[in-house]
Amino acid sequence: MSPRYQSLKGFRDMLPEESLRWQWLEGKVRELMRRYGYGQLRLPLVESTELFARGVGEGTDVVSKEMYSFLDKGDPPESITLRPELTAGAARAWVQHEIGKNQGLTKWYYVGPAFRYEQPQSGRYRQFTTFGVELIGSPLPEADAEVILAGVDLIESLGIRNYRLRLNTLGMPEERTAYRAALLEFLNTRRNQLSQESLRRMESNPLRVLDSKKEEDVAATADAPKILDFLAHESLAHFNRVQGLLDGAGVPYVVDHKLVRGLDYYTRTAFEFQGLDLGAQDALGGGGRYDGLIEQIGGPATPAVGFGFGMDRLMIAAQAAGAIPDQQADLQVFVVGLGDAARDWAMQTTRAFRQAGIAADCDLLGRSMKAQMREANRRNARYVVIAGDNELAAGKAQVKDMQGHDQQEVELTELLNVVAARKQ
Ligand code: HAM
Repeated sequence: MSPRYQSLKGFRDMLPEESLRWQWLEGKVRELMRRYGYGQLRLPLVESTELFARGVGEGTDVVSKEMYSFLDKGDPPESITLRPELTAGAARAWVQHEIGKNQGLTKWYYVGPAFRYEQPQSGRYRQFTTFGVELIGSPLPEADAEVILAGVDLIESLGIRNYRLRLNTLGMPEERTAYRAALLEFLNTRRNQLSQESLRRMESNPLRVLDSKKEEDVAATADAPKILDFLAHESLAHFNRVQGLLDGAGVPYVVDHKLVRGLDYYTRTAFEFQGLDLGAQDALGGGGRYDGLIEQIGGPATPAVGFGFGMDRLMIAAQAAGAIPDQQADLQVFVVGLGDAARDWAMQTTRAFRQAGIAADCDLLGRSMKAQMREANRRNARYVVIAGDNELAAGKAQVKDMQGHDQQEVELTELLNVVAARKQ
């Protein structure tokens, strides 16, 4: 019989064993960000719906189809939205706190949940966790390169080898407008070859047609015009310099003219890290430059660049690479008290171990000695400390080494010192 209540479709529970793997992953992210000098940002889970509509773009799938939006209880009610991504919120916070007044360059990162109403499948959930960075204030290609290199270093530090970095430029808005018109004209000549979905997309966002993985679309757009032919000198020079910096760092990448990204705010550089072991949902992370977003949401014109990774997908890829160390919640000591007085002593001693920084536990179920030993084994305890009422009266306890299997009689007053000295 299935339980009456289950987590909603696309939402998952993380049980403690899995949480250990997440802590490992989050530790890698924190360590990377320490080395790169990014400060952690913690944003609200909800923002005004309008922020995403303006920031991410009304025509995007994320805004038009995938947002969890609802009216709050205000009078009049306000439409608010569970964040589908964190860049808009980061830009909002940057403007709200006038960060640009005091520092020329802002380096922020965040880790946290985002929500999109998508069809769940492997690697795609309705609540997922993103790790992102936002580097705000620099128009230079060096900033793009730093962000991309941080992504490369993250992937490498997780032991993921089977991936590809795809790079493109989307030009500045006026360049993209000209390209969009040319692309639309081209797509119109291919109408009878395109999928139904692409025909629909053509109307709202023709660039997304290039993104389609459907065979007929890929074939129909093979000789589509390229944005590179619509770029003015400055955008071209920017793109070339980003590539030069990646070459200089020895980072392999492919320039992919069909990489367009699903959010409207990008200008110039766009990139994606593709996991080659991931199946259909193969974007490990992606990002790019977004020089217009901050002004778009009411702040001063400010250049910025960033990325977002799907932590859930990084986890899948790191596991596939066999890179995640065996995680065990390490119990150092299990304290066994046999007899009424000894039970009190076991609780006090367990607490004393804990206060001394040693992971310790004792029985809370009134179990027999044999069952307690079994529990100590199941918990992988390194030591078991055992005493009965008589031993306690004599001021002694036994310390059993569960790995070496030797047993030693120890004065109670020495117990902490003996275990602490043997702590592996
Ligand atoms: P995005 O490409 O929409 O970019 O999402 C970033 C990453 O989140 C994706 O590459 C993917 O790994 C993961 N992701 C997206 N949707 C799901 C889902 N339903 N389930 C699991 N993982 C998912 C952004 O969100 C931008 N804010 C990135 C950025 C930051 N650009 C500049 N700064």
